[in-house]
Amino acid sequence: MLRPDVGGRLKRFLIDTDTGSDDAIAIMMALRHPDVQVEALTAVAGNVEVGQAVQNALYTVELCGSDVPVHVGADAPMLCRLETAQYVHGQDGMGDCGLELNGRSPAEGRAADVIVDTVLGSPGEITIVAIGPLTNLAVALLRAPEIADAVQRVVIMGGTGVNGPGNVTPMAEFNFWVDAEAARIVARSGMPLEFVGWDVSIQSALVSAERDAEIRALNTKYSEFAVDVSSAVAAFAREAGFPGNDLPDPIAMAHAIDPSRSQTSRLHVDVMVGEGPQRGVMEVDRLGFGGAAPNIDVVTDLPSDHFFAMLHAACQ
Ligand code: RIB
Ligand code: CA
Repeated sequence: MLRPDVGGRLKRFLIDTDTGSDDAIAIMMALRHPDVQVEALTAVAGNVEVGQAVQNALYTVELCGSDVPVHVGADAPMLCRLETAQYVHGQDGMGDCGLELNGRSPAEGRAADVIVDTVLGSPGEITIVAIGPLTNLAVALLRAPEIADAVQRVVIMGGTGVNGPGNVTPMAEFNFWVDAEAARIVARSGMPLEFVGWDVSIQSALVSAERDAEIRALNTKYSEFAVDVSSAVAAFAREAGFPGNDLPDPIAMAHAIDPSRSQTSRLHVDVMVGEGPQRGVMEVDRLGFGGAAPNIDVVTDLPSDHFFAMLHAACQ
């Protein structure tokens, strides 16, 4: 059932997620935004095992008073063994802060099939927001390559931007590294891709002590949730000597919801595969010397104040 289209502003999202703490905040931003209609959530293994990602997503949907369906997806990358990020997000992926994260039931239908059916069922209307490893999206593309021409936008939290640092190896970002083969399939698919890399997150979505105090001062169940689920990642950042944790999926979601303030570069990008130091590394043709046509809009900046204003609005 479609909500009334708010003056043509209604944005229809399908969110693919490995529901760790920052994913949950991003999902809350979408569910609580007046111009966004979330059609479905599809879970993928990444930060945590896929079963936990499903439960974390279902908890977040319930917290927001939504009945959006959550579907089970891939429980491992296409070729390599799953490496989770529980050392960052906590064993449950949501900060180990005591939330009841079990016993909720996912919807019928596997993630890749739901992606294909949702996109082909509303050609030109669906934005896919992928905030975990790209296994589900790659499987959907292998099953139905025609989704590449039917999807409206594909916003991906992934990669290291034009020349940013890696966060899981010196050169690779976690989502692209966990399933580099899937990331290559997506990069080469011809879909209208927009990459929001970890460089933009550390640049504009860093939760410093001041930003943390601003969020806590909102004093709502949503701001409390955002702080509580981030407790493990905040501790990890402190121990690593960072001035705070960053929010990669929420800033990617902010770009998906409102790209008007983002700066982008349209470049040819590929993703390196296989096991070794090149795994998941973005191959960015910065000067266009490679001769291949640019295929991706790489976000290079999104103003920090704009992002935090959107995050605060979601926490009101
Ligand atoms: O590199 C950051 C990404 O890896 C985010 O999506 C975070 O949730 C983890 O999945
Ligand atoms: Ca994620």
